[in-house]
Amino acid sequence: MVFLNGRLLPIEEAKIPVLDRGFIFGDGVYELVPVYSRVPFRLDEHLSRLERSLAETKIRNPHTRAQWRDIIYRLVDAQPFEDQGVYFQVTRGVAKRDHAFPTGAEPTVFMMANPLVTPPRELVEKGAAAVSAQDNRWLRCDIKSISLIGNCLLRQVSAEAGAVETILFRDGRLTEASASNVFAVKRGVILTPPKSNLILPGITYDVVTELAQANGLPLESRDVDEHEVRAADELWVTSSSKEVLAIVSLDGARVGDGRPGPVFARMYQLYQEFKQKVMRAGKREAVSA
Ligand SMILES: Cc1ncc(COP(=O)(O)O)c(C=O)c1O
Repeated sequence: MVFLNGRLLPIEEAKIPVLDRGFIFGDGVYELVPVYSRVPFRLDEHLSRLERSLAETKIRNPHTRAQWRDIIYRLVDAQPFEDQGVYFQVTRGVAKRDHAFPTGAEPTVFMMANPLVTPPRELVEKGAAAVSAQDNRWLRCDIKSISLIGNCLLRQVSAEAGAVETILFRDGRLTEASASNVFAVKRGVILTPPKSNLILPGITYDVVTELAQANGLPLESRDVDEHEVRAADELWVTSSSKEVLAIVSLDGARVGDGRPGPVFARMYQLYQEFKQKVMRAGKREAVSA
């Protein structure tokens, strides 16, 4: 079952008009929330980011926070599987094709839940390969826009190289990767670029940052030069679906000793424990539409 404009229905029956501005202009924003054992992870943080993306793009938010939560729970409960990736997007709606915003268009809301696919154990233990590219996307990467052609083109570079991610540099500095944030480790210190218009403020980035702080792992949020990335002892990518994943080769060169490092092992463990804690709490705050 998927959700479209107020109704749960089978995906085959979910149809949108060709003049939807999401289809015509990529004029919309989205979110992806991981759900473990039917408990959404960091739901309020994802909803805050959605609200921010809508405000920044001046798309009317069609639902209150309580309504969003309610729809998500209905969708989660309608699936036969426990661990889910709940994708939702809001577009500016259906209107005659014209770049300027239409007046009176109703935002289109679409949501679906797919089985959550996190990295298999072997990849976690052995680490993954990445390649690099110049970050040639627009200057509002902080908005979670559905206009993802820049990210798709960059992701394809690593797909064609048989790698899991494309790590991006702009003006000699690390930004993020095509669909994840990036952390480097040098002499035990975790480094990651600060939030800015050049990166998506990742929910997993926040969790990793908080876990580092709470557990006394030194972390610096500062500009990271390309040469520091290439000379790092460890590299990680983070996202809601990849969680924390070690990168052990970059452009064919070994990262550190070519195996996931000790700081990664610690952070991976902390992340899994934190997930378990959230699941055990299992709380869904009172919801009503
Ligand atoms: C470009 C980009 N950066 C970072 C992330 C990680 O964000 P999150 O941790 O909220 O999944 C994503 C996730 O899809 C992304 O597309």
